[in-house]
Amino acid sequence: MRIDVFTIFPAIFDSPLREGLLGKAIEGGILEVLVHDIRDFGRGKHRQVDDAPFGGGAGMVMKPEPVFEAVTSSLGYGLDELERLREEVEVVMLTPRGERLDQRKVADMAALPHLALICGRYEGIDERVLEHLCTSALSVGDYVLSGGEFAALVLIDAVARLLPGVVGNRESLEEESFSGGMLEYPQYTRPAEYLGWRVPEVLLSGDHGAVERWRREAARAYTERVRPDLLGSESAGGSGKEKN
Ligand SMILES: C[S@@+](CC[C@H](N)C(=O)[O-])C[C@H]1O[C@@H](n2cnc3c(N)ncnc32)[C@H](O)[C@@H]1O
Repeated sequence: MRIDVFTIFPAIFDSPLREGLLGKAIEGGILEVLVHDIRDFGRGKHRQVDDAPFGGGAGMVMKPEPVFEAVTSSLGYGLDELERLREEVEVVMLTPRGERLDQRKVADMAALPHLALICGRYEGIDERVLEHLCTSALSVGDYVLSGGEFAALVLIDAVARLLPGVVGNRESLEEESFSGGMLEYPQYTRPAEYLGWRVPEVLLSGDHGAVERWRREAARAYTERVRPDLLGSESAGGSGKEKN
């Protein structure tokens, strides 16, 4: 899979793309991430990428021309080929005004061959970018970040985990939170007792059936307490198998 990222702060991506699972996925050739600096397409001697909002108001807005030109020229399209670009590449604007990201959308994105992610700054990006360049808009939650880079990294990381070969044991993906419309059951490891707190005895019993039943029930009880909205709906579910 290929992901092109468009940002005015490319250095933000340096370390996250080098470390952990993401680093391995990129090193192993499962995922290719290319980070492009929108400022290379800025205007004038200061490579200006922002301007004051029409109609007045606080802050600055990212200009459309550098974004359109960064995306089209980096991906090998002309400005007169936007329709074809949008057919061939999923162009995602990261914005709090987008559809809220969940595991199902992550799975949809992971099934695509090519994503382009556009990261905003300041008060956001001229709306013509969303209307005429992007194919979708995604939010990582109901809060406002200082920049789309952090949201893009969230999306890249979540997508990468679903690519075949990235997470060694595929089963662990099927048991995770949100698969089957529930949060994951509590996990414990050694020592069996710490500061007087013992792990649930059933987990030490060696009875796989009992462990499975305990986990199903614990997942349900925990989800009911913390995220009752998930229960019974598959809305947050990904490609994982049913657990109940
Ligand atoms: C300060 S925010 C702009 C917020 C905008 N004025 C609004 O009220 O919708 C700057 C950039 O951060 C990114 N961003 C902020 N919150 C986000 C979220 N929840 N999900 C995805 N991107 C977000 C977007 O790319 C946005 O253009």
